[in-house]
Amino acid sequence: MSVASHLHSERFKVVVCRNLGPDLVIWPEDRACERSWLMENIPGATGVIVMLTDKVRSLSGPSLKVVSTMSVGYEHIDLKAVAQRGLKVGYTPDVLTDAVADLSVMLALMAGRNGGVGVDLVQKGQWPNFSWAPFSLCGPQLSTTAASPTRKIGFLGFGRIAQVTLARLVPFGITHCLYSSNPSSPPNHARDAALAKQHNLQAVSKVDIDELSRESDVLFILAPGGSDTYHVVDERLLRKMKRTSILVNASRGTLVDSDALAKALREGWIWGAGLDVVEGEPNVAIDHPLVKEPRCVIVPHVASATLETRREMATRAAQNLIAAILGGEMPAQVNMANV
Ligand code: GLV
Repeated sequence: MSVASHLHSERFKVVVCRNLGPDLVIWPEDRACERSWLMENIPGATGVIVMLTDKVRSLSGPSLKVVSTMSVGYEHIDLKAVAQRGLKVGYTPDVLTDAVADLSVMLALMAGRNGGVGVDLVQKGQWPNFSWAPFSLCGPQLSTTAASPTRKIGFLGFGRIAQVTLARLVPFGITHCLYSSNPSSPPNHARDAALAKQHNLQAVSKVDIDELSRESDVLFILAPGGSDTYHVVDERLLRKMKRTSILVNASRGTLVDSDALAKALREGWIWGAGLDVVEGEPNVAIDHPLVKEPRCVIVPHVASATLETRREMATRAAQNLIAAILGGEMPAQVNMANV
């Protein structure tokens, strides 16, 4: 089989002609495993690989050494509880950075350029009734123009994914990068000046969240979830944003107050939103206030969903698990020191 057809095959099947040691217990279906199945199978296990859909609070069984999650986020794991048990936690940073940055840019473009409305119109068979008109389905342009030569891109959270997203946007002619990040970490002026120089930007600056919301033409939410960032995007913040601005969330749904965002879109405080994540997912049905908003483009938590990236994530999750079981260094271990 060629590399290209491997890439497009759904999954690999491997046949092993001897018992090579470990007992592998695999949930056989391509959907989140049932809680009862997990709890039944955990006793006696040395390690477990979980997805972000599997909540890890207390896991019984004295033999357990490691929880390895196939995700960069680990809010679904109660770190205090697992630290008390002395368990190691592995995760999959870095390997998904590019895929998430790609999708973040896609969402910004989709939301700004009425992607959701346009696709919906065609799929509902309404194109024949849609009359092309000079200003129909127009939206704010992401790239700069001669008449509009400034573009300020904001990031709530300025880690690896945000910085790669910034690099993706440079060819659009963006001029300023603003970001807000953990208030307890001091600004890194040297790094910011180097980034500005590298990308030929007028400025890369750490600002407070009010300035971030006031100034950003596109605001990307790329910060971790959890209680520290819960509903950080709320009505107060949304009211400060520009009427032509776009909000993109490719981190965790809990950072955004969905009702406030729906109100902001309905009442035109902002132009549009592109969401990979929504609080309460996957229970985001047709009657959800955000689904009802035409200028809200929502995809079902697929930011890392490329064949290449998901394979890397699966490999990294397996490597973390094996290293912890054998007592070696895990390629990516969650730091439990401050838990
Ligand atoms: C996806 O959201 C992840 O955390 O990997």
